[in-house]
Amino acid sequence: MKETDIGIAGTGFYVPEKVLTNADLEKMVDTSDEWIIKRTGIRERRISGPEETVSSMAEIASRKALEAAGVSPQDLDLIIMGTFTPDNPLPAAACLLQARLGNDHAPSFDLSAACSAFLYGLELGQKLLSSGAYQNALILVSEKLSTVVNWEDRDTCVLFGDGAGAAVITHDAGRGHILDCYIGADGRKAQLMEIPAGGSALPMTHEVLDQKLQYLRMEGRETFKLAVSSMVSASKLVLERNGYTADDITWLIPHQANLRIMKAVAKGLKLPVEKVYINVDRFGNMSGATIPIALAEMAQKNILKKGDLVLMVAFGGGLTWGASLIRW
Ligand code: ACO
Repeated sequence: MKETDIGIAGTGFYVPEKVLTNADLEKMVDTSDEWIIKRTGIRERRISGPEETVSSMAEIASRKALEAAGVSPQDLDLIIMGTFTPDNPLPAAACLLQARLGNDHAPSFDLSAACSAFLYGLELGQKLLSSGAYQNALILVSEKLSTVVNWEDRDTCVLFGDGAGAAVITHDAGRGHILDCYIGADGRKAQLMEIPAGGSALPMTHEVLDQKLQYLRMEGRETFKLAVSSMVSASKLVLERNGYTADDITWLIPHQANLRIMKAVAKGLKLPVEKVYINVDRFGNMSGATIPIALAEMAQKNILKKGDLVLMVAFGGGLTWGASLIRW
C-alpha cells in the first residue's frame, strides 16, 4: 500500500455519567447478571440523560480531541460523523456539531455504517486528506442507542450503551500514522440487524409504535458468527497487504460488541488475548463509537506508546466491516 503522511493527531471521548448495571437490568427484564457476563462480558453501560443529544455528546468528545491535537475548531475543514441515532432526521448531526464547535465552513456530514462507522470515516478522511484538498478532519462517532433499544426485549437491551469518540486527523500529525484502511459491506444480509420503522419505507404511525418497530432488532446468533469471521478476514487482509503478521501487532482494538466475539477474533488471528484492548465490560456496545472511545481511553491512560502497531477492526449493521492499521 502506498503510505501517506496522515495521522491521528488527537483523540477524545465522552460517556454519560449515568451507569446502568446488570443488577438494574434484572429489575427490568427476565435476565441475570450471571447470564449477561457469561454471554457478553458486559457488567455495566452508560445511558445519557434526556437533555443529552448525539451532537452534545459529540461536542464534548470533539473538543477533547481538538485540544489534544492542538487544532482549533475553525481550522477544521472536514467533519465526518458516524451515527444512526442523529438528533433529527434533518439536518445532519454533523452540522449541529459544527455549529456547536463554532466552525462556519467545513463540509460536515453524517455517515451511516453502524458499528463500522469510525473505520469508514477514517478511510474517507484519510483519502480526502491525501488528495491535498483538506488539511484537518474531525472523524467521530456519537450514538444515543438507548433511544432505539426496546427496554422490554432482553435479547437486545442488555447489550447497548451511549457514548461518543472522536479523532482529529491531519497531515504530519507526528503520531497515529494511518498505514492502511480497508472497508466493505454486504447489503444482502441487511435484515440481520435493523430498525424496521422510522424511515421513508415505514414512517412512524400509531400501528408502527404499537408493534414496536421503531426499535433495533438483531438476529444475535447469526450475527455473532459473521462478526467473528468477517473481523478475522478483514484483519488478515490489512496485515497481509502491508507485509505484517499478527505477531507484529502491539494492540488489537476490536469493535466492543461482545467479549466472546473479541476473544474468538484474537484466537482466529492467533493473538494472545492480553493484546486485545477491552472496555466492553464498562461501556457495553456503543456501535461505531466503541473503537474511537477505546483509542481515546488508551491515549488518555498512556497505554499507547510511540511505535506501537495498532490494528482496529469492526463489524456491524449493513452488513458493514472494516479494518485499519496505525503506527502510533
Ligand atoms: N438474559 C437471559 N437469557 C437470555 C437473554 C438475556 N438477556 N437474552 C437471550 N437469552 C436466552 C435466549 O432466549 C435463549 O434461550 P433459549 O435457549 O431458551 O432459546 C438463550 O438465552 C441463548 O440465546 P442466544 O441468542 O443463542 O445467545 P447467544 O449466546 O448467541 O448470545 C448475544 C446472544 C449476546 C446477542 C450474541 O449472539 C451476540 O453477541 N451476537 C452478536 C452481536 C453483535 O456483534 N452485533 C453487531 C453489532 S450491533 C450493531 O451493528 C448495532
